[in-house]
Amino acid sequence: FSSQSRLRVAILPNQGQAKDLPIATNGQPFPWDRMRLPKTISPLHYDLTIHPNLTTLDFTGVARIELDVHEDTSIIILHAKQMQISNVLLLAPEGIRPLHVLEYPHFHQLALLSDSVLTKGRKYEVQLEFAANLSDSYHGFYKSSYRTSSGEVRVMASTQFEATFARAAFPCFDEPAFKANFTIRIIREPRHIAISNMPKVKTVELPGGLLEDHFDTTIKMSTYLVAYIVSDFLSVSKTTQHGVKISVYAVPEKINQTAYALDAAVKLLDFYDNYYDIPYQLPKHDLAAIPDFQAGAMENWGLSTYRETGLLFDPDRSSASDKLGITKVIAHELAHQWFGNLVTMEWWNDLWLKEGFAKFMEYISLDISYPELHVDDFFLGKCFDAMEVDSLSSSHPVSTPVENPMQIQEMFDDVSYDKGACILNMLRDFLTPEAFEIGIIQYLKRYSYQNTVSSHLWESLTNVSDVSDDLDEGRLKHREFCAKRNLPSGASKWQSDDELDVRAIMDTWTLQEGFPLVTVEVRGREVRLSQERYLKTDDPSLTEGFLWQIPLTYMTSTSNTIQRFLLKTKTDILYLPEEVDWVKFNVDMSGYYMVHYAGEGWNSIIRLLQHNHTALSGNDRANLIHNVFQLVSIGKVRLDTALELSLYLSRETEIMAVTQGFGELVPLYKLMEKRDMAALENQMKGYIVDLFRGLIDRQEWTDSGSVSERVLRSYLLLFACVRNYAPCVTKATQLFNKWKDSDGTLSLPVDITMAVFVIGARTPEGWDFLFEKYRHSMQMSVKSRMKTAMTVTSLQDKLTWSSYGEVMKTQDLPGVVVSVSKNPHGYKLAWDFLRANWHTLIKKFDLGSSTISHMVTQVTNQYSTREMLDEVRSFFGSLTEETGSEMRCIQQTYETIEDNIRWMDTNLPLLQAWLNKRSHKVAHEDL
Ligand code: BES
Ligand code: ZN
Repeated sequence: FSSQSRLRVAILPNQGQAKDLPIATNGQPFPWDRMRLPKTISPLHYDLTIHPNLTTLDFTGVARIELDVHEDTSIIILHAKQMQISNVLLLAPEGIRPLHVLEYPHFHQLALLSDSVLTKGRKYEVQLEFAANLSDSYHGFYKSSYRTSSGEVRVMASTQFEATFARAAFPCFDEPAFKANFTIRIIREPRHIAISNMPKVKTVELPGGLLEDHFDTTIKMSTYLVAYIVSDFLSVSKTTQHGVKISVYAVPEKINQTAYALDAAVKLLDFYDNYYDIPYQLPKHDLAAIPDFQAGAMENWGLSTYRETGLLFDPDRSSASDKLGITKVIAHELAHQWFGNLVTMEWWNDLWLKEGFAKFMEYISLDISYPELHVDDFFLGKCFDAMEVDSLSSSHPVSTPVENPMQIQEMFDDVSYDKGACILNMLRDFLTPEAFEIGIIQYLKRYSYQNTVSSHLWESLTNVSDVSDDLDEGRLKHREFCAKRNLPSGASKWQSDDELDVRAIMDTWTLQEGFPLVTVEVRGREVRLSQERYLKTDDPSLTEGFLWQIPLTYMTSTSNTIQRFLLKTKTDILYLPEEVDWVKFNVDMSGYYMVHYAGEGWNSIIRLLQHNHTALSGNDRANLIHNVFQLVSIGKVRLDTALELSLYLSRETEIMAVTQGFGELVPLYKLMEKRDMAALENQMKGYIVDLFRGLIDRQEWTDSGSVSERVLRSYLLLFACVRNYAPCVTKATQLFNKWKDSDGTLSLPVDITMAVFVIGARTPEGWDFLFEKYRHSMQMSVKSRMKTAMTVTSLQDKLTWSSYGEVMKTQDLPGVVVSVSKNPHGYKLAWDFLRANWHTLIKKFDLGSSTISHMVTQVTNQYSTREMLDEVRSFFGSLTEETGSEMRCIQQTYETIEDNIRWMDTNLPLLQAWLNKRSHKVAHEDL
């Protein structure tokens, strides 16, 4: 142990030096001045007894913690947050003694002081009693409630400990590397049930009629994965092929919506058992749908928890995208049972090691277990999302130092999740899926029950040929791989660092923020390549000093086999075997970089898309649309060029290309909606409707087709109705009236309900009818569509939170605020609401949470005037550190608005001219 981690208590007797120590609540010096705990002592085993009282809404408990003493000391530092601690005892070999307790709430720490030394290697236990209120937020041990259809309110209690909230439920060493075994007992009333990470072994009746459930001891795990729930839930169960009992828990009236999740969990757990080649570690896994839940879901070991919308599925009322969403969330949380739970990051700086991986595994597992969901059609959307935040100077490397709970919360962002997943996908494509799979199995086996840093993963992926037995196939693939990439194929070369240094490649993606823009210029057979950082800023000096090792892939007009080249330098040159009409880099967008086609490059691509767009895959087309518009933002490409490219979209039918077309064009008029420029705004809207008119007209108003087709249909019809496309509005109005006349009993095709509800919500009577149906519905996905439709209305008085307040759950408020902020009649209300309720919001949802940062960035990212920038700056500028002034999302907000201002200044005249020219042309053609 380094001297740095040594307890400051060594100097305590010297009063002179003690004065820079923190001060405990009782006025005495607190003997530890760091946020991270010392490594002198670690926990081995926790015995926890927890007694929540669902009437008085508080809980008491006893924690007995067995300790491993690594260095002689008389002080134990551990975490506890907002609880009363009493009767603290040391159980030492020489007997039981009371310990003196100091509290330092600022770091959520306790110091337990012993009057004799705890010596290295001997066995000690501490026992603490504690009491606290059930939390009113969504973390720690918190209260949740729901209303039955007869109007009765029922209360329950559930946990959410990640990242730093186990300490709010029991005293503990609340850092991911302090793994221990947990034996949990829960005291409850007979009308409730209790569930936890492990199966229940027995129930004991206590005097007074209370029951105490004893759960089996867990395997070694981190505190953030502990979970327990006391509720009146019902459950359904099945067993996997590998003999694991899966159960889904929900409130009694929704138990009939759990069948889909149960089957999905069985199938996916079996998938991971096979893929990882390591059996799931516990005898059971429960999935619970919690009525109040802030995030989407949580991977607690053996007991994952979900939002109701993330788990409950009604075959008659849920949509194709609901099914996709539920399957993905389950796949994500189950992937964590290995990536995260079995092998855990050493510290939160490497959060991506589990979150990037789980996000990535959503796609791998669904691709194989649910081919009919075509999840592959959606992966590149993640890379676009990641690039959006990663192109700002306020971005951060995938691995970033963090210390306090707010910084830790902020790690749960698109960089850890989406960029993490995209760079893993790039690496898998580079190494081949087979070598990649072998490498991660090796990693999981080697580090089971331990903690890791990123370089452990790179090492495991480098030494793939070390695995001996089952490698015959692997070796073959490897030879093929080396041949394709012009690498020597001898096993020794494979291991040699120069030949394939996975770590050197991947460090450039995880330790630097941002991503490269590769400029490609074809001259005859020569392809000139150069790389620079893609950054949306005025200040070019910020792009200097970045260099990536980029696994480039490309195709040309004369060869559609994928060519590969690892670009390690700032510039390089490739030679083609012959002259070509066009090149396309970043095939299928399996790489995390953007490409600019210099010289005649873009023109040849525009010609190709105009005449033969199916020569490229849908993903390639989506990728080109994204790149060309993003290049406009940094002045590399003129807006006209991007718009010319967009013209081919009138013949596009594939979901990613269509949605990316919308994704680039719609924000342009969304900016205008928040300024006074109705004429241009309407011209732009007209252009987009024209572009997709053919596709919209071809949509059936049914639920037929593949998942992608169905998702696309809902999207297109919703867009058409919101944009007042007459044929769509007429049809939706008829359907809404029919549905209303049937008092909501008529069953509409699921895919079109959003469009129908949006049209219905335009009139006060329609809105009120939807609201009544919302109030009584038990179908979460139907409710969520109604809720969104209600926020799209132009009826201003229906857009204030007070019109939803009592009926809607607070967990849904952030989504409503964001949705209202996109409504041209509501964006001011949303911004005012955010400012007026800031203190309440951060208390409820916590500083740095993605809920808060999502609200901040989404409510403001369509502003493009200096006045709005000033207003936003003046509000966030008035915050203090305690109220969030240090949050990264504030910088992101400023940068985004500045970028919007620049975009509008440069491009509005061009946009106007291009649209005018086009409408003349169209008018001519019509004659
Ligand atoms: N570990 C997270 C849950 C979490 C998020 C805990 C933020 C603490 C802070 C969980 O595995 C997760 O990533 N959930 C996602 C859903 C998933 C499908 C991407 C979420 O909640 O958004
Ligand atoms: Zn996760």
